[in-house]
Amino acid sequence: MVAARITVNGKETPIAPAAPHTTVLDFLRERGLTGTKEGCAEGECGACSVLVARPGVNKPTDWVAVNACLVPAAALDGQEVITSEGLATAGEPGVPPALHPVQEEMAVRGGSQCGYCTPGFICSMAAEYYRPDRCTHADSGHGADPADSTDAEHGPNGFDLHALSGNLCRCTGYRPIRDAAFAVGEPTDDDPLAQRREQSPPTPVATEYHQDDSAFLRKSTLAETLQLLRERPDAVVVAGSTDYGVEVNIRSRRADCVVAIDRLPELRELRVESDCIEIGAALTLTEIERRLDGDVPLLAELFPQFASRLIRNGATLGGNLGTGSPIGDSPPVLLALEASVVLADADGERVVPLADYFTGYRQSVRRPGELIRSVRIPLPLSPVVAFHKIAKRRFDDISSVAVAFALDIEDGIVRKARIGLGGVAATPIRSLATEAALEGEPWTASTVEAAARVLRGEGTPMDDHRASSLYRSAMLGQSLLKLYAQTTEKVSS
Ligand SMILES: Cc1cc2nc3c(=O)[nH]c(=O)nc-3n(C[C@H](O)[C@H](O)[C@H](O)COP(=O)(O)OP(=O)(O)OC[C@H]3O[C@@H](n4cnc5c(N)ncnc54)[C@H](O)[C@@H]3O)c2cc1C
Ligand code: FES
Ligand code: FES
Repeated sequence: MVAARITVNGKETPIAPAAPHTTVLDFLRERGLTGTKEGCAEGECGACSVLVARPGVNKPTDWVAVNACLVPAAALDGQEVITSEGLATAGEPGVPPALHPVQEEMAVRGGSQCGYCTPGFICSMAAEYYRPDRCTHADSGHGADPADSTDAEHGPNGFDLHALSGNLCRCTGYRPIRDAAFAVGEPTDDDPLAQRREQSPPTPVATEYHQDDSAFLRKSTLAETLQLLRERPDAVVVAGSTDYGVEVNIRSRRADCVVAIDRLPELRELRVESDCIEIGAALTLTEIERRLDGDVPLLAELFPQFASRLIRNGATLGGNLGTGSPIGDSPPVLLALEASVVLADADGERVVPLADYFTGYRQSVRRPGELIRSVRIPLPLSPVVAFHKIAKRRFDDISSVAVAFALDIEDGIVRKARIGLGGVAATPIRSLATEAALEGEPWTASTVEAAARVLRGEGTPMDDHRASSLYRSAMLGQSLLKLYAQTTEKVSS
């Protein structure tokens, strides 16, 4: 087996002697690439973002920005990484490198003051610069006046500002950064990173990386992985590492054996059948969002409210359900969609309705050695949907309460109601009493007000630093009233 290595800015770089838990951030900095900064070490600030070559959605390869502070270096064995240093083009000896177009725009528009956040912004901006369908949404070209942009979150060059939602700047202020983002043009034909998108992404490699009595392992197939998990029941499974990385950095978690599953082809399929949509547990939320392209409207409402683009570029549905957290954002949505999880171990597979999956605080029916292989959403979908995430910040925050609705309303009558709740009990729950209060009733203000009173009493919300129990209950009721206000016109027309 070839020694574990990462191609960093075009140069093969051995991962050894990094420990299996060493993050990509520390790995890069220890090798002198100090443009990649540590601000928070928990995925909140984006100072550490780097570009990784990943399987593309519209081209063979996409340049994807991720938080280097969360991903173990060993997880990128065989992969290609570009840092802020690698974006500039080296000149002749003694001649400074030519700035990359996003670096140039940041410089000339005053997008950098102390500069600490700047390399991270540059990498997130470069990922959006190279997004293949960005320019198809552009309404004018390079050098456009930012004031011409048609909406506050999209530039005239098609730049989606959500690409920067995981990057914080404490001193420049965001206007000059936005100006720079909205001014970048299209990559030129001879741009090597644009050309790289036309070739296949790096092939996932099997990894057996051992240092100091601990190991980072990656198998090539699901069957091999499940066999390994049977032999090593103590192993910690990781996908995007957006939860695991926080455990390593903030809670000093050190596992003897980590098993990566994020590149397993069997966990990265997305299939639309006549009666269901099946989503591989190891697809990232960005991949699901772009591949479904709005086909599941409730998921399309979820994605922009889930963390930041940087986190969604790594986070998976399997990881969100794997934590068993009562405040994960996908469970309420998947409960409202009546989804099931497909669980796999070395003996075979079983399908469990998500409503039966959670058994207690961070506990589930999943057995040791069992993986979530996919999430199955039955068709047809209910047409009236909403996802209301109540959090302190509009973007990149954890829910205090989350409510997902999926309703069938025909001839003014609620034929079917499915409501998923997060943040109001030890597990995500279905709102069964409220569903019953709505079904068979006319979709009127009086029905909704009565059902909102029922909804306020669902679950056992608690007081904590995010919200009081009274606030959580009140938000449940408000959520249904808001849905009514949002949908009345649509249903009656
Ligand atoms: C800054 C920040 C913001 C965040 N914001 C949000 C948010 O808005 N909403 C939200 O819900 N979450 C949020 N999270 C949490 C996290 O991003 C999600 O839970 C994410 O979906 C985890 O996916 P992952 O692939 O990164 O999981 P990992 O970190 O790789 O794994 C998490 C857990 O799931 C297990 N696991 C992973 N895949 C599987 C599988 N296929 N089968 C069985 N077990 C598996 C792992 O063993 C591990 O215990 C945030 C995290 C950070 C750092
Ligand atoms: S250091 Fe803040 S997101 Fe990585
Ligand atoms: S330029 Fe100082 S933090 Fe952004």
